[in-house]
Amino acid sequence: MLEMNKGFKPGFLWGGATAANQLEGGYNEGGKGLTIADVSPGGKIRMKLLRDDSYPLEIDTANYTYPNHLGIDFYHRYKEDIAMLAEMGFKTFRMSISWARIFPNGDDAQPNEAGLAYYEDVIDELLKHNIEPTITISHYETPLNLVKSYGGWKNRELIGLFEKYARTILERFANKVTYWMTFNEINTGVMGSFFTLGMRNESVNNNFQALHNQFVASAKAVKIAREINPNVQMGCMSIYATMYAYDCNPVTAAETMEKNRMFNYFCNDVQVRGEYPTYAYSFFAKNNVTLDIQPGDLEVIKENTMDYLSFSYYMSTAHSSDPAHSEGVQGNFFGGTKNPFLKASEWGWEIDPVGLRIALNDLYNRYGVPLYISENGLGAIDKVEADGSINDTYRIDYLQQHISEMKKAVEIDGVDLMAYTSWGCIDLVSASTGEMSKRYGFIYVDLDDEGNGTLERSRKASFDWYKKVIATNGEDLTNKD
Ligand code: BG6
Repeated sequence: MLEMNKGFKPGFLWGGATAANQLEGGYNEGGKGLTIADVSPGGKIRMKLLRDDSYPLEIDTANYTYPNHLGIDFYHRYKEDIAMLAEMGFKTFRMSISWARIFPNGDDAQPNEAGLAYYEDVIDELLKHNIEPTITISHYETPLNLVKSYGGWKNRELIGLFEKYARTILERFANKVTYWMTFNEINTGVMGSFFTLGMRNESVNNNFQALHNQFVASAKAVKIAREINPNVQMGCMSIYATMYAYDCNPVTAAETMEKNRMFNYFCNDVQVRGEYPTYAYSFFAKNNVTLDIQPGDLEVIKENTMDYLSFSYYMSTAHSSDPAHSEGVQGNFFGGTKNPFLKASEWGWEIDPVGLRIALNDLYNRYGVPLYISENGLGAIDKVEADGSINDTYRIDYLQQHISEMKKAVEIDGVDLMAYTSWGCIDLVSASTGEMSKRYGFIYVDLDDEGNGTLERSRKASFDWYKKVIATNGEDLTNKD
């Protein structure tokens, strides 16, 4: 008999997501080397430096602050934090390993045992609480030395260095950790991101060369992981923004299609389907991109495709080339035209829960592999009441609406969804603005943008709400006891 799905599947991975450079702190402890995240100034200046492609490559405390040097001190407090995640019933915790804790300069002959031992302790602590780690091998923190001495990812030598790093952590952890992601939001490299590629002021050619090098490096890591443990689950990870044509003019629709496939599909096409899509060839021809593809590159990409596809989803975007609709969106990573049907967060990210259902359908219909929502959430300013409570009903509303659309995608549309990890489950430093005040967590951390605070952890209203969502496997999304 043909039957509709009833709710999320058993064993659905509910949890939360983080990145080493945004929560650990301890930036120079335990033998760790510097990464690009460690030279990234905090505050709104970060976005400006990013836009101007003028990131400093040194720590400059006279002019800037560096909130992620302390992060939320997860480096020392992980036991307390993991116990709180376990109290919420987390099934998985998405974390990243900092490459420079393992190879401080990225090209060292031997790995740093203190770094490996630290991650081993964190992984064991999670497993002790029955929380499956999901590990991102590279989340926005290429070792600084690889940027300064090698020029970042456009240099092919990084493939071998990454392979060595990946082999080291996979040999140590792939028998304990099932779920892995290679590069965080790899498709931000299409726009030439410093965070992703470790490069500034580069040509389009170099950006795509760097991405090619990452595709090869990622495929090699997948190969190594499967050789160590055939049961691992390897995933790619992209940022996805549902892209709408602003009007029903077929010309706008065709333009939107072209934009959409380079941003939302290109990297997934290579990593899940295992080959460069034909539309990329015409994009390369138009932009004078000639890639250095070495013998064996395309084969390794083809033979080591992903088990699942993961993506972050925060916003949608609308496209119009009509000057009458030129009012742009400020905060949206993808830019685009202001969508009159949507409201935006305090940081200008347009909130679109229905767009998540559309995204899930789009990706599942195109790739047919299980999907993992590895980031989603609302960055907001939280107010601590006199009695210490934090009533973040706006966050509950946001998550409730997104999970509800996710459920439609599973039940009505038949999408195979395996996991949902909301971003910044415990407050941490923002990636785009380096602020603490842009909070996503269920757990509040007493720390402000200037680094003042006790670092004490407390439960927001959303903590109990998410606990109930997990306990009912997503059946009860209401905000009542
Ligand atoms: C994703 C990144 O783009 O969005 C995270 O993978 C980041 O690292 C998250 O923190 C939210 O963005 P922000 O800028 O609000 O921290």
